[in-house]
Amino acid sequence: MEVERVQLIASFCASDAGAIPPEFIRSDHEQPCLTTFLGPAPAIPVIDLAAFDGPEITRAIAEASREWGIFQVVGHGVPEEAMRELQRAGREFFEELPQEEKEKYARKDAGGGAPANGGQEGYGTKLQRELEGKKAWVDFFFHYIAPPSKVNHRIWPVLPATDYRKITEEYAKYVVNLVDRMLTELSKGLELEDQALKEAVGGDSLNLNLKINYYPPCPRPDVALGVVAHTDMSAMTILVPNDVPGLQILKDDLWINVDYVPNAIIVHIGDQIEILSNGIYKSVLHRSTVSKDKVRMSWPVFCSPPGDSVIGPLQQVVNEDNPPKYKAKMFKDYAYCKINKLPQ
Ligand code: SIN
Ligand code: FE2
Repeated sequence: MEVERVQLIASFCASDAGAIPPEFIRSDHEQPCLTTFLGPAPAIPVIDLAAFDGPEITRAIAEASREWGIFQVVGHGVPEEAMRELQRAGREFFEELPQEEKEKYARKDAGGGAPANGGQEGYGTKLQRELEGKKAWVDFFFHYIAPPSKVNHRIWPVLPATDYRKITEEYAKYVVNLVDRMLTELSKGLELEDQALKEAVGGDSLNLNLKINYYPPCPRPDVALGVVAHTDMSAMTILVPNDVPGLQILKDDLWINVDYVPNAIIVHIGDQIEILSNGIYKSVLHRSTVSKDKVRMSWPVFCSPPGDSVIGPLQQVVNEDNPPKYKAKMFKDYAYCKINKLPQ
């Protein structure tokens, strides 16, 4: 099946006086030029994991997760070099490999919903149109990086100038530690045992999936979107961006831009942590915009429970005054409903 990659569409647009195909033009209620709040807006919290003493960090993370559902961390322990290398390797796949080489990594599942846990790994473009028949201005690469039993190195890119496997394994090691730290802090923030959330999301069976998003320059960033508004179905998402802004979150009913702090890592609270905490922590609604003349990229790692883990509000956080606000269900069923836009 012939797949239209956004990267190729972008190169045709560039030589076609800047028009984009109509399926990329959003309706009014989604167009960034009509819906982005441009007034003074508060910045998402920035938390230095190396600076404060223990309780202060726990408090800062818990508060950010309650009020925002997203924050940036610095002092996170991931060396700058490991982040730069991850970015270099991802960019090389999209920009240095000939198209026919890239297509050798194409995902087999041409249906192409959001690549969820259990979805197909490899090179992709979302083929299914969204509800309003619109398309996202993005191509991606998606694969497991943990646990070792799920990792399939055969789908990882082999690149001429970059040791993709070494670089990605190195980054994955740091992400595993950072996720552990976050889950511990979030557990403490709910006054639970340190390991409570980690155990609830599968312990060492927690699945980590790396997605490399490639947003080519777009002649009409005012009317197109990279990724449409959504919350992540994961427990948590750990994201490294490149230096081109574009991430927006909905805060107090306004779409506001996220300003990146250099070398920071972005932490999103996903749906599963919202559910486990019975809504105390919030999964953040976000979307991404694109740039007129620059390539935007981002490297989210989705941290998700194994498919057969039953996720519902933790017993310790519900009582007569706080009855469960969410149904308990297997993560794979949650993911199925989310991808197919069915009620949970
Ligand atoms: C996403 O949420 O799927 C993408 C976010 C980004 O590219 O910054
Ligand atoms: Fe997301």
